[in-house]
Amino acid sequence: MGARIMGIGSAVPPKVLTNKDLEAIVDTSDEWIRSRTGIAQRHVLEDGVDCSDLVTEAAQKAMAAAGVTPEEIDVMIVGTATPDTVFPSTACWAQPKLGLRRIPVFDLSAACSGFLYGYQLADSLIETGKAKHVLVIGAEALSRVLNWQDRNTCVLFGDGAGAAVVGPAEGDDDGLLAHSWGADGSVARLLQQPAGGTRMPATESTVADRMHTVHMAGNEVFKHAVKAMQRAAGEVLSQNGHTADDVDLFVPHQANVRIIKATVDRAGLSMDKTYLVLDRYGNVSAASIPMALADAVSEGRLKRGDLVLSASFGAGFTWAAMLYRW
Ligand code: UT7
Repeated sequence: MGARIMGIGSAVPPKVLTNKDLEAIVDTSDEWIRSRTGIAQRHVLEDGVDCSDLVTEAAQKAMAAAGVTPEEIDVMIVGTATPDTVFPSTACWAQPKLGLRRIPVFDLSAACSGFLYGYQLADSLIETGKAKHVLVIGAEALSRVLNWQDRNTCVLFGDGAGAAVVGPAEGDDDGLLAHSWGADGSVARLLQQPAGGTRMPATESTVADRMHTVHMAGNEVFKHAVKAMQRAAGEVLSQNGHTADDVDLFVPHQANVRIIKATVDRAGLSMDKTYLVLDRYGNVSAASIPMALADAVSEGRLKRGDLVLSASFGAGFTWAAMLYRW
């Protein structure tokens, strides 16, 4: 029996940066950003607020929605590419703010696939009886690692968090029904933050050369993303004997509306049944799927019993897809 999402919540920093605002920062236009990506605005963190603060707010909302107290959480997994510190983990910074017991908490580094990787791990922990309730979170403070002089990247990303309480499914046709995940590190260089780890520690020149920011070969990433998301989505549908027509809502990772449309076309899905938040949040990496799920629930687009498909692609490269009963 698979594990199900019992409650979902998100944290959205109040400060909004519109495409028009970006026109004053780099040589870009609202028209270019909207037509090439589907993004209209993104939210960015205020100074003094950390990724772990977003984790805390989203997790508190998810626990309230699930009717689960902090004492009942057995494990917390935080998918993030923008941790508060390299060590300790963002999860450890958030643990006391949440009042969790002395349970295992850790960060999961799978970039945009962090939430789906985390859900897969939670499912395994619950199925094997090692945990009953797992907090699975995607949280990002990407505005802190952007090169605000590089129009190729700074217009794409935003900040936010989404959290799910994952617990036991209520029957065989409930919760996680099929999954596919993978990675291909041979193309890791195409999307990375080169400095700040141990390979390239901080020096005056790494800072001057802006090596502590997102570097991306956008075009190549785009092609890999379409192929991997479509392949993973196809795999989970065929594993379970469902077809694209059975899917009530497709909630993909949101990097570029053109990637999503291409995936929808190739997998035989429909845009009418695809839930988009890219316009309001930009690419929020690991947070984008759980933030979208939280909004879909509050807008009434997602109800108990719906069949949901999610697919992701991100730095690594990593990818994942999941078919789950809400
Ligand atoms: O989260 C998972 C990982 N990330 C992704 O999946 C992102 C994947 N990549 C993409 O979404 C797209 O490749 C981008 C949105 C990053 C770029 O779109 P594109 O259609 O691939 O554009 P391009 O990189 O081929 O650039 C086309 C033109 C270039 O000008 P020239 O060389 O043709 O004169 C760029 O310099 O657009 C220019 N350009 C811009 N113009 C205005 C690039 N960024 C901007 C900008 N404003 N912000």
